[in-house]
Amino acid sequence: MQVSFNLATDIEAALLAAAKAAGLDAQAFSPDVRTADPRHGDFQANGVLAFAKREKQNPRAVAEKLVAAIDPTTRERYAVSIAGPGFINFAAQPSTLLEWLRTYGSESGLQHGAAAGYAGQTWVVDYSSPNTAKQMHVGHLRSAVIGEAICRLLAFSGAKVIRDNHLGDWGTQFGKLIYGFKRWANPAALEHDPIEELERLYRLGNDATPEGSAALEEARQELVKLQSGDPENAALWRKFTEASQRAFDQIYSRLGIRFDHYLGESFYNDKLDRVYRELTELRIAEESKGALVVFHDEVPRFSRNAERPNPFMVRKADGASGYASTDLATALYRTEHFKADGIVVVTDFRQGDHFEQLFLTVEKWFKATGRRLPKLNHVTFGAVLGENGKPLKTRDGGTIKLKDLLDEAEERALAVVRAKNAERPEADRFSDEECRSIARVVGIGSVQYADLSQNRSSDYIFSWDKMLSLEGNTAPYLLYAVARIRSIFRRGGLGDPSDTSSWETTATPPATPTECALARKLAKFPDALALATSTLRPHFLGTYLYELAGDFSGFYNADKVIVDDPAERARRVLLCARTLQVLETGLHLLGLRTLQRM
Ligand code: ARG
Repeated sequence: MQVSFNLATDIEAALLAAAKAAGLDAQAFSPDVRTADPRHGDFQANGVLAFAKREKQNPRAVAEKLVAAIDPTTRERYAVSIAGPGFINFAAQPSTLLEWLRTYGSESGLQHGAAAGYAGQTWVVDYSSPNTAKQMHVGHLRSAVIGEAICRLLAFSGAKVIRDNHLGDWGTQFGKLIYGFKRWANPAALEHDPIEELERLYRLGNDATPEGSAALEEARQELVKLQSGDPENAALWRKFTEASQRAFDQIYSRLGIRFDHYLGESFYNDKLDRVYRELTELRIAEESKGALVVFHDEVPRFSRNAERPNPFMVRKADGASGYASTDLATALYRTEHFKADGIVVVTDFRQGDHFEQLFLTVEKWFKATGRRLPKLNHVTFGAVLGENGKPLKTRDGGTIKLKDLLDEAEERALAVVRAKNAERPEADRFSDEECRSIARVVGIGSVQYADLSQNRSSDYIFSWDKMLSLEGNTAPYLLYAVARIRSIFRRGGLGDPSDTSSWETTATPPATPTECALARKLAKFPDALALATSTLRPHFLGTYLYELAGDFSGFYNADKVIVDDPAERARRVLLCARTLQVLETGLHLLGLRTLQRM
């Protein structure tokens, strides 16, 4: 029997079998296996306590009975001990660790192991989703970066992932933009930097149409024309959308993002009537002051009796659709058309109320129609702050364009790479071209990782110095760890680190304390992956990678790799190769690129 990808699964299965063999009520027993404090072993089963309490038995005695009934293979693989009132500790034997290292040796091997988690499930991930005819600014960074990492985590764990960019491409702003466009468009500027020009035209349109003015009425008429399919306005709108998408795609390609769909708000125009009809017929929505709304009386904030009632606005009083209308149609489309088992929407926390109301409404609606309800997840994040603790702005208080931010990241990384390069022996230096291409990976990776290494729920402080530092939990530190292991292979003439078959045969189980610590950490990769994926929180994987790099340093400082004894050398080379594999796989899952040399 092969060791399973996540050792905790083996232990859980062994405990369930032991419960049966020992004559315990196996139905009522859940092993509850968790990662243990490393001083006590690798995993700890806590389930005996709850079980014994329920069954009114002595937990220690139950634990002893269970442990005695554990099958021989498991007893060979783990040192099993009972601690405290009835916790059962499992420490993987060095031979088990070696077996794991042999079994899960490549990116595809790791993926194969992970794929059981979400096999057969379809997940739609809605992320980035900016509004068209505007620049992406620093506020758009987190959704793109976190969303992409979540897509990769889910896909690696076996899900079919559909990346959907829910563009904000509809709404009242287009009336003013068309109004401005028809009067002041500058063809040369449109050619040169379309988004810049569209922003300028919107500002002009907005300034020219104050509340109550005749001009505002004209702008409204432009919107009505657009919405009723006027060919001229529809063509303009398409032009805006296409130009926006081209500009967005430049950013996405730098961040390694490719969407499967751009189903923006406008896509749902012809799907709204059905939403109004169903919600009305089912009496989930009701008329209130001319609008069609949903109250959720079980949630005080959203109830009709709230101090300031704030119902979910399915259709506005003037008959127009809004953000809620399109999101209802979107949920339906993702369920029916994509057959989604899970839906993830990534936006900042300020949209919390909207999504809470949306999900409550969808739950009631789908229940009433007997539709299968996908798992609905609103993945939120905090703000990006400057070093003064206030929202990040340019020096003169303007918003920072995402493009400029990424340019600056690459420039600053180039300075770091050049400085490091100057320290190398002359014969070993990179050309300027090489420095630039390394700096692109380091610069963009630093921005991505600064975001992903933090619990997404918190705000984070954007600090160039910190994110570009070669020390600490940063992209340069991790990318450097990868490059360093590659150089160990190159300098040692150890061959291709992805071809380890001969090392695997010769290697003996890890023996020194630092070898064992590193091997244990490697075998915990599945745990970190599962945690990051199930909670939709990539930082759990980041923290793990950082710790792994630390364990590698500990090992590399203590244990010489190129030693005479072939078995000892083979197991150390194998540990190097696997660390490289897991670091690279993990960084790719977070959306970073990695380097051969740095
Ligand atoms: N366009 C929205 C914004 O810029 C985000 C859309 C998120 N997705 C959704 N289905 N509502 O805030």
